Amino acid sequence: MASSLSFLATTASPLHHHRSRHSRKASRAPTHFYPSASGAGTNATNASAYDNGGGKESILKLDRRNVLLGTLGGLYGAAALGRENTAVASPVVPPDLSKCKTANAGSETEPIWVECCPPYTDNSKIVDYKFPTSSTPLRTRKPAHLLDADDLAKYKEAYKLMRALDPNDPWSLEQQAKVHCQYCNEAYDQVGYDVPVQVHFNWIFLPWHRYYIHFHEKILGKLIGDETFALPFWNWDSPDGMTIPTSFKDTTSSLYDEKRNPANLTKVLDYQYSLTNYENPYTDDELKTKNLYQMSRTFRESLPLPELFLGDPVRAGEEASAGKTMGRIEAIHNAAHQFVGLPDSPYRDMGNFYSAGYDPLFYCHHSNVDRMWHIYRQKRGNKVDFNDKDWLNSSFIFYDENKQLVKVKVEDCLNPQKLRYTYEDVELPWADSSIKKKQKAKAKPRSRVSLVQVSEFGPDPRPLDSTIRALVQRPKKSRTKSEKEDEVEVLVIDGIEIAHNGPVNFEVYVAVPYGGNFVGPDLGESAGSFVKLPHSHIRKKGDAEKKKYSLKLGISSLLEDIDAEGAEKLVVSLVPKDGEVNIGGIHIDLIKTDWTA
Ligand code: C2O
Repeated sequence: MASSLSFLATTASPLHHHRSRHSRKASRAPTHFYPSASGAGTNATNASAYDNGGGKESILKLDRRNVLLGTLGGLYGAAALGRENTAVASPVVPPDLSKCKTANAGSETEPIWVECCPPYTDNSKIVDYKFPTSSTPLRTRKPAHLLDADDLAKYKEAYKLMRALDPNDPWSLEQQAKVHCQYCNEAYDQVGYDVPVQVHFNWIFLPWHRYYIHFHEKILGKLIGDETFALPFWNWDSPDGMTIPTSFKDTTSSLYDEKRNPANLTKVLDYQYSLTNYENPYTDDELKTKNLYQMSRTFRESLPLPELFLGDPVRAGEEASAGKTMGRIEAIHNAAHQFVGLPDSPYRDMGNFYSAGYDPLFYCHHSNVDRMWHIYRQKRGNKVDFNDKDWLNSSFIFYDENKQLVKVKVEDCLNPQKLRYTYEDVELPWADSSIKKKQKAKAKPRSRVSLVQVSEFGPDPRPLDSTIRALVQRPKKSRTKSEKEDEVEVLVIDGIEIAHNGPVNFEVYVAVPYGGNFVGPDLGESAGSFVKLPHSHIRKKGDAEKKKYSLKLGISSLLEDIDAEGAEKLVVSLVPKDGEVNIGGIHIDLIKTDWTA
């Protein structure tokens, strides 16, 4: 064991320029193994796999895909080569547990190496999950800021017990947090591909996190011996719930986490929070109304098109980032992560994926994210979000409340009743149609404004170092009601290239030009934001160019709100907040809906 590692360390030096993870792994000895005292842990397993390949140095130099083609032959090879071919597209499958690697929670240039591999590595121990029977008591999740003394006591007791467990126990808070790191900070590759497993920025974001907190909730319940224990939700879609719930701020409580931004502990969460360039000209009440309006917009725009709410498809072998858009609810959720975490790199705990799960508020936050999805599905009459086998059959592994590794599928989590939990019915202030009017009344037209001419974005990518304002042609103006019921108007910002692995945030505004191609200082109506937490999406040289994100924002109802249906062109403004970003282009698409109100 020791000798194979020192061997790797010596051969790694000539490969320093080679920035693949193989050289990283080679240049850094793993810090700890579990469970075996003999050192037969996950990283050790990996290291010896490379040893066994023959010709150590050459294997280290090879691209991972080539290694797989060589060692595994036709099966994976064919799949890897067929990536572009939709005929062989298939659902994302769980990773190979024996192949967990040291994760990087920092950047390529300033790596933060984290050991987040789980204590379980044996794939043969995985069984299909047995769902609770319909007579199992229902867990009712309640708003965290309205818990009664009894519920609060149980909630604290559960985390107290979870925190007291051995850190190697899969039920411990330590291991629960590491699960998030494994699936977000690229500790696993997808089986058969040189592509990391990534549960953010795509259509498995909501189902994966639903299962994650479902098992977390059951474990907490088991710890306190209460089958009805339910994870409270941070009710940030209600004016009274928009600050961090009080119970999390008691420094003596198990719900407390010291790695939170002290400046935001009593502030109102802004769905458009940004880390480095945040300005808040609003009173608390105005901010709350602005949030409600955004939530209302999120639902109105995305009800007819699930990809706008949940995110774009990702199938086996695909990068979560490449040309993909994250759902709108994920962007809002990211802002809350940044609001809670410390304001400086690495933004622990909530502000970075690798550490977010160390804060009990994380699970409470995700309980509300999940609730938002539940409400979204209800509003669509529970119509299946993506009638696509690759989504429905996407599968994951979790360690459950019976100390069992279980495999679950997306299609089995669509109805929370099947998982035996539900949400207490609370008011949805954002669903009130007067929100729209209140917000509108605030935007007073300016008296005399100086107008400037605005032109099209142009064919070449542009750095977003200051606000970009561009004239964008609509595919069709003055659309009829039935045309709108048939197709959603979607603003697409593509070729989003991110220079670093740090946080990224920019805002998007839409206005109608004056006299064809003039704009005033008013940016117009907010259509949404692009918000990304820091994570190591850049692994190798050249990744930044290859892995471009896109952003899709529904604008059908926005255009109605600003009486712009008759406009031929729109002025789209991109306002940089965090990070260094290049923009490839801006255009507007009409996309077929699957649902009408
Ligand atoms: Cu996996 Cu809140 O993110």
